[in-house]
Amino acid sequence: MGDSKTTARLTIDGKDFELPVLAGTTGPDVIDIRKLYGQAGVFTYDPGFTSTASCDSTITYIDGEKGELLHRGYPIDQLAEKSHFLEVCYLLLYGELPTAAQLEDFEERVTRHTMLHEQMMYLFRGYRRDAHPMAIMVGVVGALSAFYHDSTDITDPWQREVASIRMIAKMPTIAAMAFKYTLGQPFVYPRNDLDYASNFMRMCFAVPAEDYEVNPILSRAMDRIFTLHADHEQNASTSTVRLASSSGANPFACIAAGIACLWGPAHGGANQACLEMLREIGSVDRIPEYLARAKDKDDDFRLMGFGHRVYKNFDPRAKVMKQSADEVLELLGIEDNPTLQVAKALEKAALEDDYFVDKKLFPNVDFYSGIILEAMGFPTSMFTPIFAVSRTIGWISQWKEMISDPQLKIGRPRQLYHGETLRDYIDIENR
Ligand code: CMC
Repeated sequence: MGDSKTTARLTIDGKDFELPVLAGTTGPDVIDIRKLYGQAGVFTYDPGFTSTASCDSTITYIDGEKGELLHRGYPIDQLAEKSHFLEVCYLLLYGELPTAAQLEDFEERVTRHTMLHEQMMYLFRGYRRDAHPMAIMVGVVGALSAFYHDSTDITDPWQREVASIRMIAKMPTIAAMAFKYTLGQPFVYPRNDLDYASNFMRMCFAVPAEDYEVNPILSRAMDRIFTLHADHEQNASTSTVRLASSSGANPFACIAAGIACLWGPAHGGANQACLEMLREIGSVDRIPEYLARAKDKDDDFRLMGFGHRVYKNFDPRAKVMKQSADEVLELLGIEDNPTLQVAKALEKAALEDDYFVDKKLFPNVDFYSGIILEAMGFPTSMFTPIFAVSRTIGWISQWKEMISDPQLKIGRPRQLYHGETLRDYIDIENR
């Protein structure tokens, strides 16, 4: 917790209250209101947490004005270029870049946990074949707590560590199996001689009749997608994981809660929604119609893949993702498909439109990730599960940080009540 440099004064009905102002290592100071209710008998009101810090963290920092995203201090563009997903996992989880020996040991530990308990296959079979893979993931990840009893005691640091490694390792297997199940194809088991991204792609695209040779450019692009989505400080799904775990719930249940939250179109579901929107627009000449709808206050339609709560200049992840999209499309010789033409023209039109410029709305990471994933052969329903695979490390790192904090308190927001005040029950014959 940062030291209090100064105080803020709040005056209510002529009475003054001094509130400590805390400073982090960077970013805006925060007014510490923890004792406010006890001293002044008032709550603060901030639905959507637009001005409220919900925790004290050392993992990820975002400067929305500068378009900066740092993991443990390292900028995301450097990590995307020079590092790879499992190294970023180590960094997020343990706080420092690993030495070569530490990385080798970590990769070995993750690789040894990629298989699922065989009994879990029956869980998949209980779903309808047309189930959304996210629906399957929410259920199967929650069910991990029924299979791995030796890593659900959150008071034991060793069990917390094993649960963390298990989730990083098993999430690609679960996502790939959810995909295979919806295709009606047999599950493809993990292969420990492949790297994390290549193993995931093979589990998605190989069939018993024909193995899948992973193209190194595509697996590098997949690894980048994982890296770019790894963590994003206190976003909706991470806050959900923290709130769920504040009650002492087991880690698998908490991560399942995070997956459920991620599914929504305003969050992780935006990549699927964005590609579906591009297809619905269909041709470049229809873009003005959709731009007009996005600007119309009486129309619920929004440009999916545009805008961000925190970034107000550009999304640094989108910059790297755009470059990656160009590489993948060139490799696959896809330069002229209609979805891509619409995407390019829409991006240009929105960036030149006063409404989007004034409101600081520009393409976010989900605008480009869908284009790459589609080119790789993934259906739109797999886009959000892939986001869930990537964000698992962020959820786990934030969960671990929270559980290790001796000041851990159950999350319990208050409310501004506008309902009826006390009234007497009316017998049914008198209503
Ligand atoms: N299209 C059209 N107008 C928009 C859009 C959009 N995509 N996003 C925001 N606006 C307008 C909004 O109508 C509002 O206008 P006004 O001030 O006149 O009422 C203004 O911009 C501010 O919007 P807001 O909803 O108050 O902003 P927010 O910070 O609550 O929402 C957001 C952020 C990401 C939910 C929103 O921009 C959005 O719905 N974008 C589309 C969904 C999307 O792409 N989500 C992925 C985010 S990045 C990945 C992730 O974190 O999961």
